[in-house]
Amino acid sequence: MSGPVQNPEKYEWAVDIEDLLFRYGHGPEALRHINLRIRPGERVALIGPNGAGKSTLLMHLNGVLRGTGRVRICGMDVSNGFLPQIRSLVGLVFQDPDDQLFCPTVFEDIAFGPMNLGYSKEEVLERVYRSLCQVGLEQHQDSSAYHLSGGEKKRVALATVLVLDPEILALDEPSANIDPKHRRRLLNWLSAFPKTQILATHDLDFALEICERCVLLNAGGIVADGPSREILYDKDLLEANDLELPFCLQGAPGEGKAVS
Ligand SMILES: Nc1ncnc2c1ncn2[C@@H]1O[C@H](COP(=O)(O)OP(=O)(O)O)[C@@H](O)[C@H]1O
Ligand SMILES: [Mg+2]
Repeated sequence: MSGPVQNPEKYEWAVDIEDLLFRYGHGPEALRHINLRIRPGERVALIGPNGAGKSTLLMHLNGVLRGTGRVRICGMDVSNGFLPQIRSLVGLVFQDPDDQLFCPTVFEDIAFGPMNLGYSKEEVLERVYRSLCQVGLEQHQDSSAYHLSGGEKKRVALATVLVLDPEILALDEPSANIDPKHRRRLLNWLSAFPKTQILATHDLDFALEICERCVLLNAGGIVADGPSREILYDKDLLEANDLELPFCLQGAPGEGKAVS
């Protein structure tokens, strides 16, 4: 069976969101008039304090949540008719891996997606092994995810999405709970992954290293959207939004710790 349904050359925007508004039940607006366009191949960090709406926004990219306004993925409206295509285009890793993993073994969790898409047995095996290697969990394919640590579970959740080679990777707190060695491995891998990436993260060093663009959310609205080298260097802006400069920029004045 094929992979992505469309050639990325054929559409201008990987993500095109117009005036998106969403509330949970009768609660306050969790997303307020979001307008956001992301080009194919762009790497965008979604940052903001707790409760800003980062996870809520990511969940609109593949129709897990639906608000008012318009969300288009690779030129297709996120609507019932396109949901299967949209879900094969957008690989969404939830903030909490327990929301993603439900099979008895790690292997089955990762194989679930490609098997459902009808890939051959050989291709499923090859893809599962490749993604296990990408997250460094080759030794754990027969384990139950429930017996793994939080960081290991997070890496299994990542593998369940990487295995499908999606056009758009939407990762919610990808480096949370991951040890430095595997964080670095993930950073290297994402840096080399040529497709669109949207990373909701509190790890601003991670954002600075991989993402050329940064979207700052607060209270459900976009507060700033621009080059990471402007937004992530702007101490006042970050502090006004309950964030801090990335650690690599917090050295004593004159120490020259900023990335060149
Ligand atoms: N399942 C839910 N039910 C009700 N309110 C929710 C739910 N999930 C999130 N919210 C609310 O929506 C807002 C945005 O949350 P969220 O998208 O999780 O923020 P972030 O990921 O930036 O921390 C918060 O005010 C949060 O309390
Ligand atoms: Mg969140």
